[in-house]
Amino acid sequence: MSTAWEFLFFCFCLLTVFGITLTPNGSGVVRVVVKEGSDAILPCSLNTKENAESKLFDWKKDGGKEVFFYDAGLHSNNGRPGQDQQFKGRVSHFQDELKFGNASIKIRNTKVTDSGDYTCDFPRLQPRQIFHIQLVVGASPEPSVKTLNQTQDVALLQCEILGAFPKPTVEWQDSAGNKLPAEETQVSERGGSFYIILQTTVKKTDNYSCVATQEEIKHQIYAETYVFISEKLFVDTCSRGVVAGLFGGIFLGAVIFAAVQAFLVATKFITVRRNKGSREKRLSLRSCRAAVKKHSLID
Ligand SMILES: *[C@@H]1O[C@H](CO)[C@@H](O)[C@H](O)[C@H]1NC(C)=O
Repeated sequence: MSTAWEFLFFCFCLLTVFGITLTPNGSGVVRVVVKEGSDAILPCSLNTKENAESKLFDWKKDGGKEVFFYDAGLHSNNGRPGQDQQFKGRVSHFQDELKFGNASIKIRNTKVTDSGDYTCDFPRLQPRQIFHIQLVVGASPEPSVKTLNQTQDVALLQCEILGAFPKPTVEWQDSAGNKLPAEETQVSERGGSFYIILQTTVKKTDNYSCVATQEEIKHQIYAETYVFISEKLFVDTCSRGVVAGLFGGIFLGAVIFAAVQAFLVATKFITVRRNKGSREKRLSLRSCRAAVKKHSLID
């Protein structure tokens, strides 16, 4: 009988060494995700639900820092020394829950630096019970957007995210929600927070938004900026483009036409040559697109 217990205890130790927690439903590490500034409840309940009022339990962070200590009524908030400075005055237990074996704690006003791996340890229990809880505290600063540079027909927009965690994906979108190509991205990490700069060039009057998404904490935040680009200038740009395209097309069409003609002459394709005159006339009057189309018809 006692050897059986020893064997079970050995197995348990082995499992905890590998970071796996034995819980009634067999699940592993519990993950708690909160936004910076809010309170986090780190769960810890004895499998047996036995009264824990007279027990000893110890909450630690990242394998060392004292978060909260409780020993039969004496705890970190009523005189027990040793609590890490980071958690002073911010951690409490649930006194009324102890009799149900519930040793959960609440951390108030969480900071990104509270993120980490916590253990809730009942070292005197036979077998000893250790629970692993991972806390993720997300910071979601609002993106700041500005127009860096604006010429007559383009504007360079910049989006800055200062100190986000976990790392967000950041993108520029137009008012229809289309993702815009971002031309420059700077990403750096300082003290566990991410700093991201994203620039894009736009050519149209619109409301543009910089959207930051943090999948892990199911959080999305955005900032908008209105860009006005003179409609007259835009039309000018457009018509210049059309004219250029037309000339280019006519030139291309003429080249293709000449090549085809040369080919037909060389291969003595009399039937096609007979239509040469009329086709040439149409070419001179119509746009390149028609010429190219005819070319493909000949083919
Ligand atoms: C333990 O107590 C906390 C705080 O009241 C509660 O949120 C949690 O659900 C309790 N856990 C269990 C297993 O009852």
